[in-house]
Amino acid sequence: MATQAVCKAQGVVASAIRSSVTRPVASLSCAAPLQSRKANVFVPQRPMGLRSRKLTTVTSAAANGTGLPIDLRGKKAFIAGVADDQGFGWAIAKCLAEAGAEISLGVWVPALNIFETSLRRGKFDESRKLSNGSLMEFAHVYPMDAVFDTLEDVPQDVKENKRYAGSEGWTVSECAAKVGKDWGNVDILVHSLANGPEVQKPLLETSRRGYLAAMSASSYSFVSLLQRFGPLMTEGGAAISLTYIAADRVIPGYGGGMSSAKAALESDTKVLAYEAGRKYGVRVNTISAGPLGSRAAKAIGFIDDMIRYSYENAAMKKELAATEVGNVATFLLSPLASAVTGQTVYVDNGLSIMGLAMDSKTLERSA
Ligand SMILES: NC(=O)c1ccc[n+]([C@@H]2O[C@H](COP(=O)([O-])OP(=O)(O)OC[C@H]3O[C@@H](n4cnc5c(N)ncnc54)[C@H](O)[C@@H]3O)[C@@H](O)[C@H]2O)c1
Repeated sequence: MATQAVCKAQGVVASAIRSSVTRPVASLSCAAPLQSRKANVFVPQRPMGLRSRKLTTVTSAAANGTGLPIDLRGKKAFIAGVADDQGFGWAIAKCLAEAGAEISLGVWVPALNIFETSLRRGKFDESRKLSNGSLMEFAHVYPMDAVFDTLEDVPQDVKENKRYAGSEGWTVSECAAKVGKDWGNVDILVHSLANGPEVQKPLLETSRRGYLAAMSASSYSFVSLLQRFGPLMTEGGAAISLTYIAADRVIPGYGGGMSSAKAALESDTKVLAYEAGRKYGVRVNTISAGPLGSRAAKAIGFIDDMIRYSYENAAMKKELAATEVGNVATFLLSPLASAVTGQTVYVDNGLSIMGLAMDSKTLERSA
């Protein structure tokens, strides 16, 4: 499948489109149509912060007693991998909160200070608004670094790193112990984190250290979380992670072993679904999400190209909203999905089903 290279090959068109990506139009209504059949250039439909309104009508149906209910009142959800209001973790938290779940977060230690400061100063208040007018609350915000399982694993330089100073008990096992102490049990576990220090390097140029770091942060971290949180989880509970199509299709630019890490994550989802299913009665799934301009994705450097590529080539010609992933995650984490486990569920506007790049120059002749 052609990707970044296709966009780049389109010269003038691509640069004209690029300017529309960086300056979103002010179409504020979530109810506004997401697409135009005639549209042939990418125009983002909604600013990030307002994307969740439409979904809330879906998840809040339970509270009204209408429709098929997703009622998670009384359920406790631990979400690892939220450090702002732009990513999938936040959107999943919001949807789970709409459905009534209690939310606690595991925030990467180096990002904790700025997250807590922003939260305290009201920077996220607009994004925290639920459909009933209240603000999403977090029962607990724990420091966490998912690449360390126990304190013994933490090297001296990390212990002494000033970004970790002032926080303690942030390894996965210590964090799970705190959650167990505060909550007793957990019904929902969300892994929405990834990191690959050499993500911008092609696999052919990736070092062993970079490759293993990507695997550690992006796939083993999920194994570690389930190992430690599994014993806290209630029977009938569910866990979910986020994967990317680069696990089984070549996406040039998603390097450093990140494609390998996502492939491992998808494979592990099946094995963990079996093992955690038998041991704890817990379901395990992963969502393969389409491109989103989150903080992590922006750091990779080609997310605008991926968003444009998806807009032009996916089955549904519209931009993916994080809340669309949040809605599916909420379903998968709810009893409505009680027979769904071990699955990779694509939430990508149908990009993954396409075998042809619709904006390929080679198709112009027949257009
Ligand atoms: N954005 C996309 O286009 C896209 C597409 C498909 C899948 N995903 C996946 O979605 C998930 C969430 O990413 P996002 O794009 O929403 O970005 P994001 O920046 O919102 O989330 C990534 C989070 O990972 C956290 N993190 C990094 N290293 C960590 C560690 N060692 N311990 C604990 N937390 C750590 C970061 O602090 C951040 O909060 C990731 O698994 C990502 O690969 C993203």
